[in-house]
Amino acid sequence: MSQPIDSEEATIDFDVPAKDRPRHIAIIMDGNGRWAERRGVTRIEGHRAGTQAARAAIRTCGQLGIEALTLYSFSTENWSRSAEEVAALMALVVELLPGEHDEMMEKGVRFRAIGDRTGLPNEVESALHHAERITQDNDRLHLTIAMNYGSRQEIVQAARALATQAAAGDLDPSNIDETLFAEALWTDGLPDPDLLIRTGGDYRVSNFLLWQISYAEIHVDTRFWPDFDQTAMLEAIREYARRHRRFGARPGK
Ligand code: IPE
Ligand code: IPE
Ligand code: MG
Repeated sequence: MSQPIDSEEATIDFDVPAKDRPRHIAIIMDGNGRWAERRGVTRIEGHRAGTQAARAAIRTCGQLGIEALTLYSFSTENWSRSAEEVAALMALVVELLPGEHDEMMEKGVRFRAIGDRTGLPNEVESALHHAERITQDNDRLHLTIAMNYGSRQEIVQAARALATQAAAGDLDPSNIDETLFAEALWTDGLPDPDLLIRTGGDYRVSNFLLWQISYAEIHVDTRFWPDFDQTAMLEAIREYARRHRRFGARPGK
């Protein structure tokens, strides 16, 4: 069995062949607060540590040739946290994202953000927009950050957009099918996630990609997000590769 090595190398040796790896991995990065509590530091320190785990996950996906990685960074429900915590989460994006531009260009990372962009502070929106513009021609790893994201809101805005077109006479309602509906979602252009990872041990989806994960394999890891390292990611992919996806068909057919 080949040994995974944590390094800056462009690729890593991994015993799961490329054809058996997920094309798209989506992650609910949960547990920053509990990680911090365990260490007796502030929740905000936990979020900062979480950004390092996110960098490591992005790098590993790049090394493995994964096509798409979607990270749940801030949900529409997370506004109900303390003003201090919300402000710190927003500030981390503004502080850290510009420093990633060079590495994203070097590694061919195409950056995008999904969520209700109009609800974000201006400086956050402009940091996201800047990273999207700079990386728009990259095509190796499609990295999507879900920021002020809620899946129900995404579905509602898609329904509203299609209804608006229909009311204007530009769309025949009988032409609305799964493909057209998916194109109205913020994730338009991305394949559906094959693997959904949730760290922190909870078995729930917390309003994340409800439409898109219809047939995703779910992997719950009990580690808190800042502890989710390359070994943990490789383990999740290895477990995914062992599963038999049936898509509703009978086994063996
Ligand atoms: C996930 O960690 C990060 C965000 C939701 C922004 P949490 O902050 O939810 O950490 P726990 O679940 O309280 O440990
Ligand atoms: C989900 O974590 C949202 C993100 C990771 C951004 P939460 O901590 O907000 O979810 P719940 O409260 O456990 O459902
Ligand atoms: Mg949480």
